[in-house]
Amino acid sequence: MCGIVGYVGKKNATPFLLEGLKALEYRGYDSAGLYVAGAGMVKRAGKVAELASAVPKNFSGTMGIAHTRWATHGAPTEQNAHPHTDASGTIWLVHNGIIENHAELREPLAKSGVRFASETDTEVLTQLIGSLYKKDVLLEDAVAAALARVHGTYGIAVASSREPGKIVAARLGSPLLIGIGTEGYYLASDATPLLPHTREVMYLEDGELAVLTREGYVVKHLARGPVKKSIEHLEWSAEAAQKKGYEHFMLKEMMEIPEVIENALRGRLAHATGTAHLGGLRDVLPRLLLARRIVITGCGSAYYAGLVGELLIEEFAGIPVEVEIASELRYRPHTADVKETVLIAISQSGETLDTLEALRAAKRNGMLTLGIVNAVGSTIARETDAGVYNHAGPEISVASTKGFISQLTVLALIALLLGRERGLSKSEGKKIVEELAKLPEKARRILAKRESIAVIAKKYAKIRDAFYLGRKFECPVAYEGAIKLKEIAYIHAEAYGAGEMKHGPIALIDSSFPSVVLAPKDSLYEKTKSNIQEIRARGGPIIALTTEGSEADIGKLADDLISVPAAPEALLPILTTIPLQLFAYYVAKERGLPIDQPRNLAKSVTVE
Ligand code: AGP
Repeated sequence: MCGIVGYVGKKNATPFLLEGLKALEYRGYDSAGLYVAGAGMVKRAGKVAELASAVPKNFSGTMGIAHTRWATHGAPTEQNAHPHTDASGTIWLVHNGIIENHAELREPLAKSGVRFASETDTEVLTQLIGSLYKKDVLLEDAVAAALARVHGTYGIAVASSREPGKIVAARLGSPLLIGIGTEGYYLASDATPLLPHTREVMYLEDGELAVLTREGYVVKHLARGPVKKSIEHLEWSAEAAQKKGYEHFMLKEMMEIPEVIENALRGRLAHATGTAHLGGLRDVLPRLLLARRIVITGCGSAYYAGLVGELLIEEFAGIPVEVEIASELRYRPHTADVKETVLIAISQSGETLDTLEALRAAKRNGMLTLGIVNAVGSTIARETDAGVYNHAGPEISVASTKGFISQLTVLALIALLLGRERGLSKSEGKKIVEELAKLPEKARRILAKRESIAVIAKKYAKIRDAFYLGRKFECPVAYEGAIKLKEIAYIHAEAYGAGEMKHGPIALIDSSFPSVVLAPKDSLYEKTKSNIQEIRARGGPIIALTTEGSEADIGKLADDLISVPAAPEALLPILTTIPLQLFAYYVAKERGLPIDQPRNLAKSVTVE
């Protein structure tokens, strides 16, 4: 995720800016840059170390802003790195977040003769502020006027060569905090860079704008005017700050799931027409709509996400889908219908070699290839014909959590778009849109109950084996739950379609072999209940996961019970997966294991 630092005071800003960017490296980024009043601007694609070596020795000034960029709009290049400047070269801006209406704002500026130097949404905001920053206008007033026209999310820091002792900061949806130092004032997108300099901080809230000078700062709400802010004292260590105070990146990333669902949906839900807007597919949509078959591929969790996508697309759009593990798909003989076949490659990192080679084989065979990728500008993102980015921010923990949930959300959007183009009714589509929009809040409710899941996890922390069982949409969720327990708690966990138990696996059941059974109130609820009874009859412990309202019924059969808010069957995996991720996390925690870096595993498997 992008990072911001800023400083104004008595000291040279440059050392803090470079140290601050290094402290933010853990968030993941692909380019970096800084602006220092009186010295100028330097930016580079690549690492902060490359930026630092490009900064001249005498590069100094008492005010500056700096940024690490996690690319969303525009490839990770030097041109697209922040800071961005306006046509007059007077103001400099760094930005975290997404300006949704950047295209609408760009048009009049281009018409007025502004020549854009980059392909970013951030530069549009910079040029807009520049166009409003007339001779007698204060920087903070030009910024406020521009933000009034912006839709989307931002955490920004703005500087001007005309007012070199000032930083204007504003926040809507992307964190910013001010550090109160003895020799000046600091700005950062999280506490980590501030800790070596001050522990007295003030958090900006959404809608607030701050003006920092060496004398102090003032804060106002863009709609309500001046606000009085309280000062917090930071207790965190630097490492804790990177994890926002959570013990592990995995828990931090699970806690980000509601925001990740919001980011995957942002600007993509068409409430009026009951469809999805996926700009990344626009150019290939005509060919995509002719598809007679879709092949989804990926590895590990990405493959399991594909299994949910298969059911979503078949349910919403009626297009035959098959899902293949990438390391197998690449060796399959190609079939005659390649021209009517579309490949969807799913990859959080965008660098998984098995998935990349399967994609390359499909391209050689003439298929249209799409990507569902989180890392902008990654190899898979670049080699597919088109795609949809997750916008989930970097996933640091090896076990995928928010990445998987984001993949399911994007697959639901793709299925909705295809469905609406192939006969799904407008009223059906609108219902799906409404239900998608409710998911972030429902996810928050599940996460709020995480301590109750921790209690259950402690009870099962010493098990050696487990089954994960589910039917239809919950079957892939069972697979995902099982891989989580395997990879971070090192427990043998097998997943099956619940109906499959009686064809062999049930022979393993005894009192030491618990089963996690996904039994939401869906179309197969009664059948799944029968499977639970079959297991109980053989003395197998049951951890049941159901939907609110069915607790009493299922509770009679289960040793332990977890419930999630109800949702349409096709969208439930986005919710039922979360407790399974939490369960695996708390079991691994109870076992004292290195959760973020499990043994034998890598975050991105770039070998075959
Ligand atoms: C998931 O928890 C695992 N870390 C692993 O299965 C992962 O999903 C798989 O390696 C695919 O990675 P990708 O999404 O980056 O391609």
